[in-house]
Amino acid sequence: MATKFRRIGVLTSGGDAPGMNNAIRAITRAALSNGVEVIGINGGYSGLVNDNVRQLSARDVSNIVTRGGTILYSDRCLEFKTEEGMAKAIATCKKYNIDGIIACGGDGTFRGATDLSNRGIPTIGIPCTIDNDITSTDYAIGYDTAMNTVVEMVDRLRDTCESHARCNVVEVMGNHAGGIAIQTAIACGAVDCVISEAPFDEEAMYEKMRRLKADGKRGFIVIVSELIPGYADPAFAKKIQEKTGIETKFARLAHVVRGGNPTLRDRVVGARMGSMAVAELLAGKSNVVICEQENETVAVDINFAQTADRLYKGKADESELEKYSKEEQSGILRLCEKKRRYFKDMTALLSEISG
Ligand code: F6P
Repeated sequence: MATKFRRIGVLTSGGDAPGMNNAIRAITRAALSNGVEVIGINGGYSGLVNDNVRQLSARDVSNIVTRGGTILYSDRCLEFKTEEGMAKAIATCKKYNIDGIIACGGDGTFRGATDLSNRGIPTIGIPCTIDNDITSTDYAIGYDTAMNTVVEMVDRLRDTCESHARCNVVEVMGNHAGGIAIQTAIACGAVDCVISEAPFDEEAMYEKMRRLKADGKRGFIVIVSELIPGYADPAFAKKIQEKTGIETKFARLAHVVRGGNPTLRDRVVGARMGSMAVAELLAGKSNVVICEQENETVAVDINFAQTADRLYKGKADESELEKYSKEEQSGILRLCEKKRRYFKDMTALLSEISG
């Protein structure tokens, strides 16, 4: 592969996600086998701003396939968003002959990637977030591990709920996305689930719980996605208890969901996306994010990905589509529709089989 690259930088930014280390390892090994050196940037974009970097050898990434978190550490760097911070970041790239960067993280990370690309440092994004809330990709690294952790925790709560004839409300992470909540609700046999993507009929849930209790059901699990006012709250457990007569506890799993050894899926997706990011960068691409779509790993323009994301999340209206071709516009609309349909189908599935 023809390359003008002397060195590439790799960083992890935003909330950490299991599988980030697998991506770092793949990036390092793939770059080295193409004769390109690798600079690990410590603490996300703040490592670029503060000149905190280290060279990575093949051995530096040995024995990290099993490790959660990120060996490069992570941060949310406000200074990077300022002109002064950006100038320092570019100076660090120049100082170490960093000709391109691979940035692993979520949507905030990709905004940073675009800023670097616009200033002449080719940058590629890899989606890593347990929330799986990046509209352009079916899958983000960390999601599977996080969900398996929730399943393990909820299975434990279930045992004790069953013994004591109790209900447990379990709040899970996800930021404003209900993917972790709805999937784990199905996997854990929850009686109901509260997410922002679907309407929640509180009275119908109380009625159902009373009926199931009368039918002999002892243990109940209700999954709630974080940040939902009135529900991601211990007061919701109290209300369930009052309305159903079932003793109800509240558990917030919080950051426990973000740690732990990556599952097979996160290891393999980390390896696949890491390797592809290097190939794209060395082929001269910039400002793209590596996505998984219909089981294929593809490179998607970051501006396109961000428009899809803003549109889906209601942060932009369809007038933002005007700068895209007709084909691109329908691609963006398809991505948004696919997400909506997914939540609708999963909610219907939960309601059909819970009981
Ligand atoms: O990484 C995503 C996420 O874990 C969200 O689910 C959560 O809302 C947020 O990050 C918490 O971030 P922090 O690390 O700032 O507590």
